[in-house]
Amino acid sequence: MPDTAPPRYSPLVPPDMQDEIFWADGRAPEDERLWVPVGPGRWSRPLCFNVSQGYWVHLTKVTEAGVVSRHRHPAPVHGFVLEGRWRYLERDWVATAGSYLYEPPGDVHTLVVDPGDSMVTLFHNTGALLYCDEDGQVTGTTDVFDRIAVARRHFEEVGLGADYVKRFIR
Ligand SMILES: [Fe+2]
Repeated sequence: MPDTAPPRYSPLVPPDMQDEIFWADGRAPEDERLWVPVGPGRWSRPLCFNVSQGYWVHLTKVTEAGVVSRHRHPAPVHGFVLEGRWRYLERDWVATAGSYLYEPPGDVHTLVVDPGDSMVTLFHNTGALLYCDEDGQVTGTTDVFDRIAVARRHFEEVGLGADYVKRFIR
């Protein structure tokens, strides 16, 4: 009987990179400790911290209405809404479950969640978030290295261990 099992690995990918490339986590396991608190009613669940290319992919969860942040980016952002709804004050559309969004570099936008709403959204951020005041002036920043530091502290505090963050680093 012929062996019809697919090859375990692609021959195109070097053996020592297989586990770096094919790796799955996402929303499982359902362990609340994996949600890193980043503000009142706000969490970030890391999926990928890519330090060699300066980007991070994560799930943002917001359960409290209000302004989440006003910011701009030096590089493009991609997002996909998994649950709930939210909007940007500067736009007339509402992002809902299933929405894909592209944020061009330089656009200043203010993410808000309206009363009664909540959301979970996947974001792919490259470079940094540049937090802005109402005049668009930068008041603070965060990048993949800041995100790693916050996650590392959180994982240590909740008992997963500081090194837990390493599984997300590429
Ligand atoms: Fe943004």
